[in-house]
Amino acid sequence: MAGTELFGDEERKEVMDVLETGVLFRYGHDSQRNGIWKAKTFEQEFSTYLGVKHTHFCASGTAADSLSLACCGIGYGDEVIVPPYTFIAPIEAVLLAGAIPVFAEIDETLCISPEGIEKAITPRTKAVLIVQVFGSMGRMDEILAVCQKHNLILIEDAAPALGGSYRGKMLGNFGKMSAFSFDYYKIITAGEGGAVATNDDELYDRAHKYSDHGHDHIGNARGAEQHPILGYNFRGSELGAAVVLAQLRKLPYMIEKQKSHQNILKQVLKEFPEIQMRHVPDEAGDSATFLSFFLPDADQATRVFDEFQKEDLSASYWYRNNFHYHRQWGHLKELKSIFNLPVMKMNNVPDYKNLQVPQSDDIMQRLMMTQIMVNWSEEELNTLASKMRSALKKAIK
Ligand SMILES: Cc1ncc(COP(=O)(O)O)c(C=O)c1O
Repeated sequence: MAGTELFGDEERKEVMDVLETGVLFRYGHDSQRNGIWKAKTFEQEFSTYLGVKHTHFCASGTAADSLSLACCGIGYGDEVIVPPYTFIAPIEAVLLAGAIPVFAEIDETLCISPEGIEKAITPRTKAVLIVQVFGSMGRMDEILAVCQKHNLILIEDAAPALGGSYRGKMLGNFGKMSAFSFDYYKIITAGEGGAVATNDDELYDRAHKYSDHGHDHIGNARGAEQHPILGYNFRGSELGAAVVLAQLRKLPYMIEKQKSHQNILKQVLKEFPEIQMRHVPDEAGDSATFLSFFLPDADQATRVFDEFQKEDLSASYWYRNNFHYHRQWGHLKELKSIFNLPVMKMNNVPDYKNLQVPQSDDIMQRLMMTQIMVNWSEEELNTLASKMRSALKKAIK
């Protein structure tokens, strides 16, 4: 992943700034901190990058999902439409909010589809949580139109697609509130960390308060603030903000490199008429972190996966993957928790054990994905391209 490939003096310098003041906390301690405010600086630069009015740095992407739901007023008994193809974090956040995840079909964008959303709506539906999966976007115009038609809140989890855009607007700028992650496997990383983004002043006000036990952050004297609401601790630290600030400044370079590397490998795929590319509603906005494509059927897709592995090429066959698809979520199917989740006590909740998403199953069975790296040299790229060609020749019949 780009972020971990590019750690360097820039990250070290930002971290040292913080360690030299000794103030690891993002609020207060004005006289000790020598004007060093890494979380605030990150938020200013991140808002500018995304073109949103506000961002708030927090502890993790999962915290950002929880924060988004809480700030949008989603809680006990509300239904939230979610995709069956995602890391499970946003679904856990819905459950923890006391709300009910309702699954909808994805389409060949790999994101939740507008038709799937329409079918999943009930009188209890309050929000749609779209995950912008692995570098690219859903059919945003239609999804926004469905949400508007049914008066639903759109929450955008853009954690896997930071740096992507749709028609010139950055992903993370479409939801009423959007979530990002900076965990170790994301395009920019601080090991752990997250952020929310919004254009709504009221939602931003809720976000910074809720993620710090309801403190209002008026004045900088920590003990003197008011706490008008109950909240939680979703705070991010100055150290995390320092690292992700340095990483953010490298993001345009990462995206440019990924796009150029992805394009070279895409040309190899185009030699095979059997291969169909992932549907990307705005090609120019693909962050190009991955290259995703479909084979005509599951057999050929698994053969491609096996051949890629033999050639030591990065390969993900998400249909069988342990984390990212509903088939492997035994813990969700059985609602295995360590405490009584509100959803366990509710009537008319979806049958998670027998979740039926046939369109998503068909799409996922044909899907193959390979990861794009930033630091590949021209020579490495040429070698990868020829290994890919030979693997595809062997696998496609
Ligand atoms: C779509 C999505 N949302 C949220 C998260 C959670 O992020 P974190 O690991 O920072 O809690 C992830 C992590 O992979 C993710 O892929």
